[in-house]
Amino acid sequence: MSKAIQAIRGMNDCLPGETNKWQMVEDVLRRVASNYGYAEIRMPIVESTNLFKRSIGEVTDIVEKEMYTFDDRNGDSLTLRPEGTASCVRAGNQHGLLYNQEQRLWYMGPMFRHERPQKGRYRQFHQFGIESFGISTADIDAEVILLSARLWRELGISEFVTLELNSLGSNEARAQYRDALIAFLEQHQDILDEDSKRRMYSNPLRVLDSKNPDVQALLKDAPSLSEHLDPESKQHFDELCKRLDAAGVSYRINERLVRGLDYYNRTVFEWVTDSLGAQGTVCAGGRYDGLVEQLGGKGTPGVGFALGIERLVLMLTELEKLGNIRSSVDAYIVMAGEQAEITGIALAEQWRDQVKDIRIQCHCGGGKFNKQLKRADKSGAHVAIILGDSEIEQQQATIKYLREKKEQQTVPFDGVAKLLEELI
Ligand code: HAM
Repeated sequence: MSKAIQAIRGMNDCLPGETNKWQMVEDVLRRVASNYGYAEIRMPIVESTNLFKRSIGEVTDIVEKEMYTFDDRNGDSLTLRPEGTASCVRAGNQHGLLYNQEQRLWYMGPMFRHERPQKGRYRQFHQFGIESFGISTADIDAEVILLSARLWRELGISEFVTLELNSLGSNEARAQYRDALIAFLEQHQDILDEDSKRRMYSNPLRVLDSKNPDVQALLKDAPSLSEHLDPESKQHFDELCKRLDAAGVSYRINERLVRGLDYYNRTVFEWVTDSLGAQGTVCAGGRYDGLVEQLGGKGTPGVGFALGIERLVLMLTELEKLGNIRSSVDAYIVMAGEQAEITGIALAEQWRDQVKDIRIQCHCGGGKFNKQLKRADKSGAHVAIILGDSEIEQQQATIKYLREKKEQQTVPFDGVAKLLEELI
């Protein structure tokens, strides 16, 4: 026998049983986004490599070591998208959706990063993201965060997530802070690891979220970003906090929060949890007022977030918040005898016509009555509709309840639709 081909490491199949959890979560995401007036945008999975280099930044983990980049048959360098914001801005610019306009957009789909796979971290993963363009005031930052907070409420996990918030200030303020930070790091080079030393000049803010405990200890004495904030950014941050306070969303200001992508200015935030082990960030985002211009468009402010759907589904599963998922079948038709087999599928068609959204599975492939009943049970159906020769003769079905203690009953064919309606 030849060796079976396996999926690529870090790229997972989503099997039946899992997919209905995903659908439930996706339905909530779509519904809440549309409740806030966001419209869906779908972008290609493959983009020019330059798009991500220019937006995410050359000296970031994603661009330096995580992108799936390849030359296509024309010799063009292409990349499987590692995130959605850059593609969304590219699409917005290309189709004239952004300049002098307001847009509230959402997207959902696979992203690719060549990271070391572990629980909650994959090489193909899925994001749901929203991006809002054209508004520079803090009310839209608040809206974006409130939308995410509503998702947690709808999914029943509000008490398991914490909002961390920071402001990176304007580009000028950040440049000043950058100089101060470099001066500090230069004085303590002996403590820095290789990664931090390498980033010290190219992207010193990234040293702030180094995982190395010695570097973290050193950073306690480092100059803080908040001391360098420009007055406008400070005010913007205050305005945001005021709105979150008024809406009852609590947060923790984390001055070390800088994010791993270079396009942010002012507001940055992450929703973190203890329920997932090491990969504790469920959702992250912020403001990116320079990105549209950086990608060739006319200056348009933007703010948004993306959440990892795998992390969300994992969390919901572990916290047992997905209890009431409807199984994929409501009724299973057991057909014993040739006449029942012929009439059964025609009756099923009739009942599907009559009862919108009912999910009926017909037994196929023949076999003994008991085997068919076992299949019915395995399907997750609420009832088995049993059709034998005597039922066909008398124009009635026997209904057997599979999930509750209830006497089986016979129902005339034209009464079955009513019974099925009650199952939905
Ligand atoms: P990000 O922090 O790189 O931000 O990713 C957002 C979320 O995607 C993370 O918080 C996490 O839940 C999920 N995620 C990231 N990498 C993986 C992975 N390897 N496996 C599983 N889940 C993962 C962005 O992508 C920005 N585009 C967010 C944004 C939108 N900012 C403004 N608008």
